[in-house]
Amino acid sequence: MFPTHRSRRLRNTTALRNMLRETTLAPQHLIAPLFVQEGLASSTPIASMPGQSRHGLDSLLREAEACAEAGVGGVILFGLPEHKEPEGSGAWAEDGIVQQAARAIRARELPLLLMGDVCLCEYTSHGHCGQIQPGDREGRVDNDATLALLARTAVSQARAGIEVIAPSDMMDGRVAAIRAALDEAGFTHTPILSYAAKFASAFYGPFRDAADSAPAFGDRRTYQMDPANGREALRDALLDVEEGADMLMVKPGLAYLDILVRLRQACDLPLAAYCVSGEYAMLEFAAAAGAIDKRAAVLEALTSLRRAGADSILTYHAREAAAWLRE
Ligand code: PBG
Repeated sequence: MFPTHRSRRLRNTTALRNMLRETTLAPQHLIAPLFVQEGLASSTPIASMPGQSRHGLDSLLREAEACAEAGVGGVILFGLPEHKEPEGSGAWAEDGIVQQAARAIRARELPLLLMGDVCLCEYTSHGHCGQIQPGDREGRVDNDATLALLARTAVSQARAGIEVIAPSDMMDGRVAAIRAALDEAGFTHTPILSYAAKFASAFYGPFRDAADSAPAFGDRRTYQMDPANGREALRDALLDVEEGADMLMVKPGLAYLDILVRLRQACDLPLAAYCVSGEYAMLEFAAAAGAIDKRAAVLEALTSLRRAGADSILTYHAREAAAWLRE
């Protein structure tokens, strides 16, 4: 009790604070999401995500090199095909845009982990994450019909040199289906990072601009989770562990720190948190308006994800933050 106990004693000097800091944040924890667009000559800025662009292949390579130079741990690729159609076949095309990009990046032998987002919504003309039965206007998505297509996409990404497969579609059974397909194709060593607790969030708005992947009808609430549900998130994530996931992700990140903490307590797999596009946009626009100090706020937000239990963090601030952390 006061005055015997004074918490401020341990906050008194920089040396003490540095020595006793509980959580670290380093460049190698960060993963940069990158958008690559088929047929794009250079790059196009994304208006709702200041500082982020859709890249053509050359521009993507330069961005990946800059990430590697800054010490970023990895990049995760999102593809925008030239043509979308109902099945989303651009996702698994051997010369699909992500597959081309992956080969080009691997050829550079950059010191980066190369990850691939596996989902169909960037490739389907209706913008849903799986197969829609003809006539369905609600966007329910046929779970079991979608599994084979996701598995095919994962194998084609692995063939192109993607080192970590990250399914974000939220179909039931997709981790098991992808694991079996990867193993059968000889990729027994390719890990799966499951977007295990992915919520139907309003914070994906800017991403859907960027990837042109907003659903044409209905919404994603029959497959992504209800933001009000914490117990369900744990249950669903642990099913992915049983199916063979090697790592789990919580998404969005900042608005779901409680889920990260609970998952950290409930399992021992490495965890990732995705600080999503709307969370990035909030930080960027608030900083641009002079309301917050961008560098301090971004580093604080990323540290909070680590403190809650994330081993790695997917963030559009990856390159910038890595550079700050190295100064
Ligand atoms: C694809 C996918 C989405 C995001 C990552 N993978 C969009 C969605 O589910 O609608 C969002 C990422 C972000 O907002 O930064 N399913």
